[in-house]
Amino acid sequence: MSAKARAEESENALSSVPFAHASEEEFARILDFYDVAWRYEPRSFPLREEEGRVVEAFTPDFYLPDLELYIELTTLKQSLVTEKHRKLRLFQERYPDIQIKLLHRSDYLSLLAKYGFGPFSEVEVAGIHEVLISASELERRVGELGAQISRDYKGKEPLLVGVLRGVICFMADLMRHISLPLAIDFMAISSYEGEQGEAVRIVKDLEEPLASRHIIIVEDIVDTGMTLNTLLQGLQLRRPASLKVCALLDKRARRLVDMPIDYVGFEIPDEFVVGYGLDFRQKFRNLPFIATLKRDWLQTQAQTKQSPE
Ligand code: IMP
Repeated sequence: MSAKARAEESENALSSVPFAHASEEEFARILDFYDVAWRYEPRSFPLREEEGRVVEAFTPDFYLPDLELYIELTTLKQSLVTEKHRKLRLFQERYPDIQIKLLHRSDYLSLLAKYGFGPFSEVEVAGIHEVLISASELERRVGELGAQISRDYKGKEPLLVGVLRGVICFMADLMRHISLPLAIDFMAISSYEGEQGEAVRIVKDLEEPLASRHIIIVEDIVDTGMTLNTLLQGLQLRRPASLKVCALLDKRARRLVDMPIDYVGFEIPDEFVVGYGLDFRQKFRNLPFIATLKRDWLQTQAQTKQSPE
């Protein structure tokens, strides 16, 4: 079977499995990529009975038949992990001959960082620390945002204004989830040291007129809010019918200028992130997920001179 046919078959199989979490789907994708056979939640094991009735059972997430191994992912909230450990202890007492492995959140994230690179799967990408938002989580959330925008703008024809360059992946995916007629345009912004500290200026302006149109500014990430603030002020002067903002990532902890963001993909902690369009010195834009960088790697980079772009 050709690689393309295999990928299609795997995609079809994946879409028919009712995964409870995006992380499980992501894990199945990695197993598929490496040709490891798997079954999702193939059986439940009774853990406790009362008066002949099963009152507690355990259903491991995956079974890998070639390895005769069950896998349980614990990428959920920390509060649920203790409960999982308790169940697992009961399971091991009752079924000592069955192999099961608990994959902790940190194991899972380093697995993704190592093997979930998509186009980079054969290459080690120096600098990546952890996957913060996986490709399937992005896909799901961007789909939800598109559906919400389609509902909110029903009967209208919005103009999506993307802020280059980090927005390209998000814009390309988002617009395909908006089931309305729409137009797109792009702006580019550059920041510089102004008289009153850091300031931003437009280096590529829009080609579309804005007057009386419904504008949605599409941003990759809102950090201090300086860029967005300047944009909103400038675009408001062009008298659009409405002006809203859709940002994939919101690093709220670093906000200096407060402003409403109408659609937010994910709120993220105060960490520098790359991938899915976002870069560090023009690198990492083509990673299919959002990841954090290793601190020691960043420090070494800071010591080396920035290469000319
Ligand atoms: P703001 O003006 O501080 O809100 O910054 C917005 C711009 O800074 C974004 O459009 C990005 O280009 C860049 N930026 C901020 N944080 C990050 C990050 O964590 N990774 C990559 N780029 C970032």
